[in-house]
Amino acid sequence: MKREIRPVKHLGGTMSVPGDKSITHRAVLLSLLAKEPVRIRNAAACGDVDRSLAAVQRMGVTVEREAGELVLKPPPEIRIEPDSIIDCGNSGTTARLLAGIAAGSNVSVVLAGDESLMRRPMKRIVDPLTAMGAELYDTEGHLPLTVHGKRLLPFEYRMPVPSAQVKSAVLLAGLASNCTTTVREEVLTRNHTELMIQAIGEGLTVRDVKPVSTPDPNDPRKKRMVMPESFKREVLLGADSRIVGGMVDVPGDLSTAAYFLAAAAIGGHIVTVVNLGLNPTRTAFLDYLKAVGAQVEISDRVVVSGEARGTVKVTGQGLKARKVSGETAVGMIDELPMVAVMAAFAEGTTIIRDAGELRVKESDRLAAVSDNLSRIGVKVGMLEDGLAIEGKKELTGADFEAFGDHRIAMAFSIASLFLVGPSTIDDDSVVAASCPTFFDLLESVI
Ligand code: S3P
Repeated sequence: MKREIRPVKHLGGTMSVPGDKSITHRAVLLSLLAKEPVRIRNAAACGDVDRSLAAVQRMGVTVEREAGELVLKPPPEIRIEPDSIIDCGNSGTTARLLAGIAAGSNVSVVLAGDESLMRRPMKRIVDPLTAMGAELYDTEGHLPLTVHGKRLLPFEYRMPVPSAQVKSAVLLAGLASNCTTTVREEVLTRNHTELMIQAIGEGLTVRDVKPVSTPDPNDPRKKRMVMPESFKREVLLGADSRIVGGMVDVPGDLSTAAYFLAAAAIGGHIVTVVNLGLNPTRTAFLDYLKAVGAQVEISDRVVVSGEARGTVKVTGQGLKARKVSGETAVGMIDELPMVAVMAAFAEGTTIIRDAGELRVKESDRLAAVSDNLSRIGVKVGMLEDGLAIEGKKELTGADFEAFGDHRIAMAFSIASLFLVGPSTIDDDSVVAASCPTFFDLLESVI
């Protein structure tokens, strides 16, 4: 439905956001390989996770709800009618991680999705899973994807694109097939799969490569720090690795909280989010908030189920433009539409680089952001792998398009709070992919 959003003079408060979507997906999908039940506390309840839940149920998992927790009882063995079609909806994580599990299991399935997911690239998982020994047939690099699982071979893989979904697909294939699997990353991506295998299973180790001090070839009296290997992190999954099962307590989703924290930063207000996921591979957005001038205070930091969490308080105080590139761009890949909106309100021109992956998300997010920003008179330059955005003092409301993409709808809903006059979002229902309660949460702080 079309939704009108009016500007606000003040917002703020203390809130919690629903459980992390990436972590919930992994807990749900890993239940397929567990020996004992997997219990999920504070699971994300959203369209994407529903796709993973429906998929594992079709493959033999029993799903029950007990005292607000999800209890997933694994089957003795993954089973599904040969060539059954599993609809992954809008969820890239369901499609790619499930392809990995299926590739290493004794099943044949066809993975399909909605119009948006059917446009997203699948070669990136088909290539490594085929190299491991599975049989996969994509449709010109896209879904529908037929996966014939096989007993896979030991595999070493250097990630060609920084993608946590690809890394996870390879690791889950190795886990399902009990074969030694090594993944090397030059650019670190979110590591929820690794942490969860360690928390409710065994047999996975991680080696971080640290720079070492060596003589400078230009001046041997001096030393310089160099990386002894050409990658930063190596994930090693042993042939005896397995998922036992047990409790996964999910922290709040930083990618959802980002919208409310950004609202504080843009408007010069204070928003506090409690019980928020603080995994270091996900917190680049908090560092960015600091870099653009907001005050960010973190307290009550603890680690539960292998994942860090805590309370985050953001106090806005005027935004300055800051460049985004490299690991920072990867570290806040899902927050970049919100970052681009913040740039429209910042002093100066923001350059976003190394963000070519945004073209193959739920929508072409570079095009979607640029289109919507142009509607409010912001000057946007389209770069090969990013955007250049010139900040402006006063911006007038407009009719925004969500392009069927939850993160575009949420980012421009936040923008609408700070424009002169009302704005509209053409389809507010798309937020359900990651956060069906988004507008209620928004109401609670305005
Ligand atoms: C996700 C990884 C990211 C992210 C996506 C969720 C995950 O994609 O954009 O929303 O749960 O693994 P990449 O696979 O491109 O890193």
